[in-house]
Amino acid sequence: MSFAVSFIAGSHARGECVDSVDFDALEGLAREKMPPASFAFCAAGADDEIIANENIAAWRNLRLRPHVLRDLSTIDTSVTLLGQKHPHPILVAPTGRHKLFHPQGERATARGAAAANAPYVVASNANVLAEDIAAERKSAPQWFQLYYWPNQKEVEALIDRLAAAGFSALVLTVDAPVPGWSPRAARLQHEPTPEIRNINMPGSPMARTAYHPDFVGKVMYPATWRELEWLVKRSRVPVLVKGVLRADDAVRCAEVGARAVIVSNHGGRHLDTTVTTAAVIGEIAAALSGKAETYVDGGIRRGTDILKALALGARAVLIGRPVIWGLALHGAEGVTQVLDHLRIELVRAMQLCGARTLAEITSDLVAPH
Ligand SMILES: Cc1cc2nc3c(=O)[nH]c(=O)nc-3n(C[C@H](O)[C@H](O)[C@H](O)COP(=O)(O)O)c2cc1C
Repeated sequence: MSFAVSFIAGSHARGECVDSVDFDALEGLAREKMPPASFAFCAAGADDEIIANENIAAWRNLRLRPHVLRDLSTIDTSVTLLGQKHPHPILVAPTGRHKLFHPQGERATARGAAAANAPYVVASNANVLAEDIAAERKSAPQWFQLYYWPNQKEVEALIDRLAAAGFSALVLTVDAPVPGWSPRAARLQHEPTPEIRNINMPGSPMARTAYHPDFVGKVMYPATWRELEWLVKRSRVPVLVKGVLRADDAVRCAEVGARAVIVSNHGGRHLDTTVTTAAVIGEIAAALSGKAETYVDGGIRRGTDILKALALGARAVLIGRPVIWGLALHGAEGVTQVLDHLRIELVRAMQLCGARTLAEITSDLVAPH
């Protein structure tokens, strides 16, 4: 099944290979297919959804200054992450509750990510047991995103289970100690059916949903620097920290022992009107240089966005909502197609900018608007 036929009305296909993927159209198709409450949960941004939208605009508003007349006979998108070589720098971001989008939930996402050779960061809000998600793993690794909840014994039991199931890194999300408020998702809540539960962390406070009056103002995930230090010591696999927007915090994460920092504002889902990730990735990557790896997410919808992120110092990017749109439309295959097409777009962006390797994607390729 070709991506063009299945997803993208009006996009220009060359055989099985699509030249241009319009993710706005993809979102529209996914919206038609999903139950309204599932779409609201996926699209939700906090408050006025200012930053959820600006994340996208910020990458688009950066301008490219391409090199010309370079030999483009080979393009190499490979990258080393946490000491392991990968064919490309595109990862699946942790997003929860995939049974809202597809009956197989995270199993389908895992299969789709594996087929695209993309590392998959499984969300702790997954609806499928970690061991069953692990069963879909192929050569690309799976990492697991953790929230630290107040019962340390339960957190310990989970991280031991994850290590036994072969998850090769832990990603501690730190930007949502209290849930943000999304009027869109609060108005249109999904049913808390038995399927839609946090099956991997049954004792955690967010077993239902963030948009419940009981949760207002409650600190759900009380991680501090002390808990990060504990996790780094306790974990048998590398620890990453997700949700950092400041160089000083990023450097402290590295000093405490995090192997990578993911510059993220959670897709604008918790705190509205933060800085965009495009605005701060450069300064944070520079501060972390030689100390820890820097990844970024939020609003990345094009190969040119990925190239800009890498030019500004990111080592890899994570993709959130577009993966869900692919999942909702075509299950595992939809996930693969979204990731494959971003990779194809990255290759084309590299060719048009005269960058043959990721190392050649240097900061001078990008200029402000
Ligand atoms: C439906 C949904 C659920 C999410 N759940 C989580 C989560 O459980 N843990 C987490 O760290 N981030 C979560 N995120 C944030 C993503 O990991 C990522 O930071 C964000 O989606 C990136 O922006 P993008 O959607 O514009 O690509 C979620 C995002 C979405 C859209």
